[in-house]
Amino acid sequence: MIFYFSGSGNSHYAAYTIAEKLNTPLVSMAECLKTNSMNFDARQDKYCGFVFPIHFWGVPYLVTNFIKNMQLKMNEDTYVFAVFTCGGSTGSADKMLQKLLNKHNINLSSVFSVKQIDIFVPFFKIPEKDKREEVILKSQVDIESIVNHIINLDKGNFDENKGSLPFFTTTFLYPTYSYYRNTSKFRVSDICTACKKCEKVCPLNVIEIIDNKPVWKLKKCTLCFACLHICPAQAINYGKVLFFFDSKNKGRYRNPYAPKGY
Ligand SMILES: Cc1cc2nc3c(=O)[nH]c(=O)nc-3n(C[C@H](O)[C@H](O)[C@H](O)COP(=O)(O)O)c2cc1C
Ligand code: SF4
Ligand code: SF4
Repeated sequence: MIFYFSGSGNSHYAAYTIAEKLNTPLVSMAECLKTNSMNFDARQDKYCGFVFPIHFWGVPYLVTNFIKNMQLKMNEDTYVFAVFTCGGSTGSADKMLQKLLNKHNINLSSVFSVKQIDIFVPFFKIPEKDKREEVILKSQVDIESIVNHIINLDKGNFDENKGSLPFFTTTFLYPTYSYYRNTSKFRVSDICTACKKCEKVCPLNVIEIIDNKPVWKLKKCTLCFACLHICPAQAINYGKVLFFFDSKNKGRYRNPYAPKGY
């Protein structure tokens, strides 16, 4: 059983590919939270995986919420792995995840990470097509290698993207995530066509189309940027943050190999 969460499809693609190769079911954490289906039985499974993006050198709010509320049965010898997708570095997200799993007496057997396109467009521009393809190709090779490690039941921390001083980045920068999660930073331009894609994609049902425009109903969200990247009109922007970081003219992206649907 593989639990996944994904904003632009990077982690969905990784989770889907791994699940196919391991012949194990794929479970969307967002859908389970939406439908309040939080009981899982992985006792028939050899593997149990958690695949999600890194947010602020740590675990996304939605994933934290999911793990805190899940009821998961598994065997003592189940091989439990985590795969993070990231744009640059993961910090000590592995330790944060292990701490969350401790409450369920679950120990991670292995941790991996895959570099992908960084979708945090207030800071980073989506690269040109050639560069995007290069990153995706490399990620496919990395995912292949992760699958081999899992099939061999290799134990250990194989995350090579922790960055320098992972403990400090997570300790000092993860707390700023709460500030960025304020939905007041989102704005919509007049080119919105009221297609409702942003409303449908939101994993937390935060968006509602009112008078033909999206409205963010809650003060905070998980900041997955699915709404911003899926908008066909590029009508959604986020910023300015700290007076100058803005997503305008930074490009939009969805992983072209991710399965269709949300
Ligand atoms: C709110 C937010 C925060 C992010 N923080 C980090 C980070 O701390 N380190 C990093 O390497 N990438 C970071 N990223 C980039 C994502 O981890 C990366 O693009 C990931 O592959 C997105 O996967 P997804 O499409 O499955 O959501 C961040 C992205 C978002 C939206
Ligand atoms: S996805 Fe874009 S165009 Fe469609 S309703 Fe949302 S903001 Fe408007
Ligand atoms: S409002 Fe947008 S960024 Fe926030 S959780 Fe929903 S889809 Fe993700």
